[in-house]
Amino acid sequence: MASKATDPVGFFDSGRGGLCVLEAFRKRLPLEKTIYIADTEHCPYGNKPPEEIVARAKALTEQLLAQRCKMVVVACNTATAAAIDILRATWPDVPFVGMEPAVKPAVLRSKSGIVGVLATAGTFSGRLYRETCARFAKNTRVLTCVADDWVTLVENGETTGPRAEASVRACVEPLLAAGADHLVLGCTHFPHLKPLIEQVAAGQAEVLDPSDAVARQAERLLAARNLLATVGDGVCLLYGVDGENMVE
Ligand code: DGL
Repeated sequence: MASKATDPVGFFDSGRGGLCVLEAFRKRLPLEKTIYIADTEHCPYGNKPPEEIVARAKALTEQLLAQRCKMVVVACNTATAAAIDILRATWPDVPFVGMEPAVKPAVLRSKSGIVGVLATAGTFSGRLYRETCARFAKNTRVLTCVADDWVTLVENGETTGPRAEASVRACVEPLLAAGADHLVLGCTHFPHLKPLIEQVAAGQAEVLDPSDAVARQAERLLAARNLLATVGDGVCLLYGVDGENMVE
């Protein structure tokens, strides 16, 4: 059966990270119904082999499509890197939106010619990241930092306090010392730590979160297919992977 404008938009991530993408989307399109699945049982994705992430991404997409989602937002950079091509090939009629590290805007705005990208190992080893850098960062030095600890901090709700600050400093200070004037948040868990990252980087680097750009892309895709909701109450369902309601 063809999708309808009143059908929901589905989101998934390994955990709570993608909630910042969901929030940006709901702010932009408040009439849309949304369903979010947090795959916390399999979190973190960052160091898992790509085949395992592909299997999770397919299973989560199936769950969302079973609930009649008209579009799927892969609100996870690591899952986008490993699986988006396969998801698109498996469900050619479904519009998918993925995450892309905001390397291009960082490069365009950088004055020092040095930018820092924070992401998981899985994102850095993906084709999408390599191609984005090759395309947009030819004359820019791109420094990278795998910040896996931050995923754990966010999953534990520990986005302030001494441990979070020590972990943010350990990743961010070397990038600043090396001259980075823009920091790209290349994992959807990281915007949850943005206030702390901005505090550490204050006066030295701008912090870029792609959530709004992803929400805009989702809007464009829905509009192109005539699937934007024109009525609705913007109801949002948050699930764990077991189908249990997620505790916020
Ligand atoms: N939030 C995810 C990302 O954007 C995954 C983090 C993880 O599970 O390691 O990459």
